Amino acid sequence: MDENNKKIAIFGANGTIGSAMLAHYQNESQVYAFSRSDFETSDSNLDKILLDDYKDKTLARAASTYENDFFDKVIICIGMLHNEDFMPEKRIEDFSENQFMKTMESNTLIPTLIAKNFYKKLKKNEKCTLVFLSARVGSITDNRTGGWYSYRASKSSLNMMVKNFSIELGRYNKKLVVIGLHPGTVDSPLTQPFQKNLEDSKIFSADFSVLKLSSVIDSLSVESSGKCIDWEGKVVSP
Ligand SMILES: NC(=O)c1ccc[n+]([C@@H]2O[C@H](COP(=O)([O-])OP(=O)(O)OC[C@H]3O[C@@H](n4cnc5c(N)ncnc54)[C@H](OP(=O)(O)O)[C@@H]3O)[C@@H](O)[C@H]2O)c1
Repeated sequence: MDENNKKIAIFGANGTIGSAMLAHYQNESQVYAFSRSDFETSDSNLDKILLDDYKDKTLARAASTYENDFFDKVIICIGMLHNEDFMPEKRIEDFSENQFMKTMESNTLIPTLIAKNFYKKLKKNEKCTLVFLSARVGSITDNRTGGWYSYRASKSSLNMMVKNFSIELGRYNKKLVVIGLHPGTVDSPLTQPFQKNLEDSKIFSADFSVLKLSSVIDSLSVESSGKCIDWEGKVVSP
């Protein structure tokens, strides 16, 4: 199919990786950009959808407005590591109910609700991709340093959702690939407080990361469905 006929839904389109996804896909595809907050765009090929929140009912209503639109890709770029009230935990004494609940909401609950409400808007019987921005720190086998309790747990949980969706939705569309992606360490507000400990060469621009991730997305087959894959195309162990 002509790339120009492809339809791509991006959630968290105002975030750093979300807006780089938007810039990457909008020249070749019809992009549906979902966001909580408004952002600038001059592109007429872009459908901007501002949502009050990412609650189940709001998402169901949003999905129902696209009666005749079916997507080739749904890409969920939402996530949070810290906010004005908390930083990732260094030790268990830092762990709080508020941080855990907020982090699980942003990184696990909201992406799951989006997929729940939008999987039927993916094309049936055609190669389609449901993409979740995950993180290597969600890997249990790769956890060598501990800490970051809430973020690690939320991304491990997200990876379980990815696996579950791959099984159930794979019955609905045998050509569907459901995937979690690790984007590398990307220069964004999410990583900003931790960048001083890293060499510059280890920090990617969002454009570079998205270039890599988009070629990973295009190279995936259904055999990869349910996995977490990094920006180089390598599997991240569960
Ligand atoms: N940057 C990295 O190095 C890195 C590494 C590994 C994984 N990731 C993952 O990649 C994804 C994107 O990260 P990023 O670097 O682009 O971060 P970012 O610039 O901070 O963008 C995060 C996005 O998530 C949205 N968001 C966060 N919490 C939300 C909530 N509770 N409800 C609704 N929307 C919420 C934000 O929307 P608002 O702006 O409206 O709040 C924003 O669109 C995240 O899932 C992150 O965990 C990033």
